[in-house]
Amino acid sequence: MKIDPREATQFDLAAADQMEKIISDLGRMYQERNEALQEVAHAHHEALFLLAVAADYRDDDTGVHIVRIGFLAEALALRLGQSKAYALLLRKAAPMHDIGKIGIPDNVLKKPGGLTPKERQVMNQHAAIGADILGKSRIALFKLAAEVALTHHERWNGTGYPRGLAGADIPLSGRIVSVVDFYDALTMDRVYRPAFGEDKALAMLQEQSGKAFDPTIVDCFMRHQGELHDLRKRITQSPMSFADLVDSTPADL
Ligand SMILES: [Fe+2]
Ligand SMILES: [Fe+2]
Repeated sequence: MKIDPREATQFDLAAADQMEKIISDLGRMYQERNEALQEVAHAHHEALFLLAVAADYRDDDTGVHIVRIGFLAEALALRLGQSKAYALLLRKAAPMHDIGKIGIPDNVLKKPGGLTPKERQVMNQHAAIGADILGKSRIALFKLAAEVALTHHERWNGTGYPRGLAGADIPLSGRIVSVVDFYDALTMDRVYRPAFGEDKALAMLQEQSGKAFDPTIVDCFMRHQGELHDLRKRITQSPMSFADLVDSTPADL
């Protein structure tokens, strides 16, 4: 607030000084509050990330699968023409897709061999449980993570779960994560089978185009398969962690 000193009374000048001080105090308090909120959101994110690692422990005791899912989802979103901001948010959200497995009893989760229809039903609840764990927040990251958790088992042709959504009714985040999750799971060793080779995995992905997966996303994946394969390999060779995942610089894709 600028006051012409020739017209100002002593009182005006004192009031203006006071006002400036209040404004600067408010500015500082606002900044401190934002920093504190960011710290809380970061701690919340880290806790949920660790929960996601724990939920995935049965399939992958290194936790690298879920980190790869983050980076592959980001890369694919960018290749699909999505904004950097969306792709970055998806990188952080996608690793939490299976967090709901934490709520599935061990006798189902760890059962070797096939599940009975009843057990399959229990297992499928991980999507809704995950959305429940993540969806309580108003923060954009956790809202997107809840959307991914809820929709990553929907299928393009409507035969998925939990809601049987079809086509573009399935949020883009779920459609992208289901593709990278399928690809990454095929190309890693599992307790019940060795990893499929790259060509076999790509053929299986292509085979599901228009059935399980959005054909546009599968086409995009196929066009960029070399880069995506290299990205996957790079992450496996120098395992990344939570810190890399939340680093806000876009990945060198
Ligand atoms: Fe899942
Ligand atoms: Fe997964």
